[in-house]
Amino acid sequence: MASQPDVMDKLVSLCKRRGFIFQSSEIYGGTGSVWDYGPLGVELKKNIKDRWWNAMVRSRDDIEGLDAAILMHPRTWEASGHVAGFVDPLVDCKTCKGRFRADKLEDARCPQKPSKQPGAHDACQLTEARNFNLMFKTYMGALEESASIVYLRPETAQGIFVNFLNVQQSMRQKVPFGIAQIGKAFRNEITPGNFIFRTREFEQMEMQFFVEPGTDMEWFEQWKQLRMEWHLALGLSPERLQFHQHGAGELAHYARAAFDVTFDFGGTLGFQEIEGVHNRGDFDLTQHQQFSSKKLEYYDQLNNKRYVPYVIETSVGADRVTLAALVNAYREESVEGEDEGRVVLGLHPSIAPIKAAIFPLTKKDGQPEMAKGILNDLRMAFPMDYDESGSIGKRYRRQDEVGTPFCITVDGHSTTDQTVTVRDRDTLAQDRIDASQLKSYLAAKLVG
Ligand code: GAP
Repeated sequence: MASQPDVMDKLVSLCKRRGFIFQSSEIYGGTGSVWDYGPLGVELKKNIKDRWWNAMVRSRDDIEGLDAAILMHPRTWEASGHVAGFVDPLVDCKTCKGRFRADKLEDARCPQKPSKQPGAHDACQLTEARNFNLMFKTYMGALEESASIVYLRPETAQGIFVNFLNVQQSMRQKVPFGIAQIGKAFRNEITPGNFIFRTREFEQMEMQFFVEPGTDMEWFEQWKQLRMEWHLALGLSPERLQFHQHGAGELAHYARAAFDVTFDFGGTLGFQEIEGVHNRGDFDLTQHQQFSSKKLEYYDQLNNKRYVPYVIETSVGADRVTLAALVNAYREESVEGEDEGRVVLGLHPSIAPIKAAIFPLTKKDGQPEMAKGILNDLRMAFPMDYDESGSIGKRYRRQDEVGTPFCITVDGHSTTDQTVTVRDRDTLAQDRIDASQLKSYLAAKLVG
């Protein structure tokens, strides 16, 4: 049961108004469930991706990075099971021409009678269910014929599997080790929606950890815990995070065991998957061996044995975590002594798009010059904003709404004693500090 309020509509509006996320091709009426990240959104998502890359690749000796191409050999998707099995059963309504997922009719509304589900209204004429493949198809080269069909990858994982030996041998890695990558994936989702929760073009952050068969469940448990810790360190509230274990009927065709990390998005959406941790066994490497006729075995020199490793996969959506971070951070507060409240994005400082904003209290007495000097001094170290328009209260509110953790004000004293005030977004406490100390002050507050 979801216990959190529904803030989605307010967030969609804030994200557009303040330059986080825009509907794709909006001037043409938009593209269905595709979104563009604006100036602040691109910083927020990049900060999340950087935290993942640092946790997975930079801070460990046993995981290597990769950036595989989106277009892969079409046999890849036969081997992975996507050509045959990455399908949703669909029904069409001959009356309203709507198309619905046959297995999710209860979640859909009849366009002609929204109080009922498709099929339940007298006028509905649903067809038999037909399977619809979710992969986007395109053609490689000048000829549009079946021999030149390629797919936009529906997951980044397969780029890792086909490069398993390239990475292992070039980097002289020994099992257990992992390969991580961040990249776009595409799915022609039938029921997309809920803003950037389910889209047709999205980014995944995936890591495949190759282990010796028999040690897989131990590693599975370890990765499950590590991934939950990562979400907590991002600032997602513990009460909004839960594991969901896949029962036998829910397991994907490749999975021996699976847990989702779920996040409570509030309202009717409630707890939903943001990351999957899977024990994929040797399914993928064995399939690719068979389809490519190339051995994908690991040679364990120490014990003089060869085997196809098992894989523990952690797969998280960068857009879904961005949405979780936004939902988690959104709050409305009353302010003592003021009629108007404030909207705050209480983002973890490490992912906030702007780390500090600098304001001259007035536009005279050398204050703008001093503030711009500080801006230029700090901007290469931290994403900064400069604002000299409107009352100081309004300027604070603008920064609160986009999650800026610190606001620095240059006032009448500053130009004589070289001190400034630094206001904390969450506690509203103000410290008066020497302007020359700002870089180390902010660096200390922004770690973690
Ligand atoms: N390689 C395994 C795999 O792709 P998945 O559960 O289908 O597993 C993993 O996807 C993650 O990718 C999900 O937990 C979610 O965060 C993200 N994801 C999947 N489909 C998505 C979509 N249509 N829009 C946004 N994110 C999506």
